[in-house]
Amino acid sequence: MKIICAENDREVGRYAAKYIAEVIRERPNALLGLATGSTPMTTYSELVRMYREGEISFAGARTVNLDEYVGLSPEHSQSYARFMRENLFDHIDIRAENCHIPGGLAKDPIAECKAYDDLLDRLGRVDIQLLGIGHNGHIAFNEPGEHFTKDTTLVELTESTVSANSRFFNSRDLVPTRAISMGIGRILKARKILLLAIGQSKAEILARALLGDVTPSVPASILQFYQGELTVIADRKALSRILEK
Ligand code: GLP
Repeated sequence: MKIICAENDREVGRYAAKYIAEVIRERPNALLGLATGSTPMTTYSELVRMYREGEISFAGARTVNLDEYVGLSPEHSQSYARFMRENLFDHIDIRAENCHIPGGLAKDPIAECKAYDDLLDRLGRVDIQLLGIGHNGHIAFNEPGEHFTKDTTLVELTESTVSANSRFFNSRDLVPTRAISMGIGRILKARKILLLAIGQSKAEILARALLGDVTPSVPASILQFYQGELTVIADRKALSRILEK
């Protein structure tokens, strides 16, 4: 595991975008595993800048997102499909048909999970997977539990996740309580993983995830057993507990 300490969120984005750009330059049809939330936003704005300045092209790239809320249409202002369009896809030369996100409006969400796994099997191995971390240690929407999920699953979100994500909705009642999430087993198949964290509020959970016991009650702790190339890019505040230890 490599840990990169950045000074601030912009610098986290610059380092992460540089890693992603290297992967695309090496393999123009790279399969990028993408994440949502506030953490990767500076990474996406930096990728957009690199594209605008002619440093990188996404013309051959393909993407798979980690998760989507159940019940939100791709047009909904808080859907992850819309987030990805607004923060990245609409501003670069990626082809819409190469971008994949679980369908939040699927009539049968369990069938949608299976269809997403079939898609992942067809697309092959993710070249680089971007991850954030929830305050309770979740990755994608894999919540703390009794086991590590393997395949794409229909998840009941915990109270703490619903509360954390309510900041994006007009009222807490409007926050979806279920999501479709790529399973941890699938996430660990990626060739490379970039785990990003920004801010003091992530310091404790980041330390537990990377230095504590490997346990499904902290889903991100499984990254300690990850066999590929793991790079953690975080600002000084998010790394403060790790630096103390
Ligand atoms: C959501 C997403 C995760 C993300 C997490 C942290 O629950 N499903 O992929 O890592 O939130 O979000 P933030 O980056 O806003 O702290």
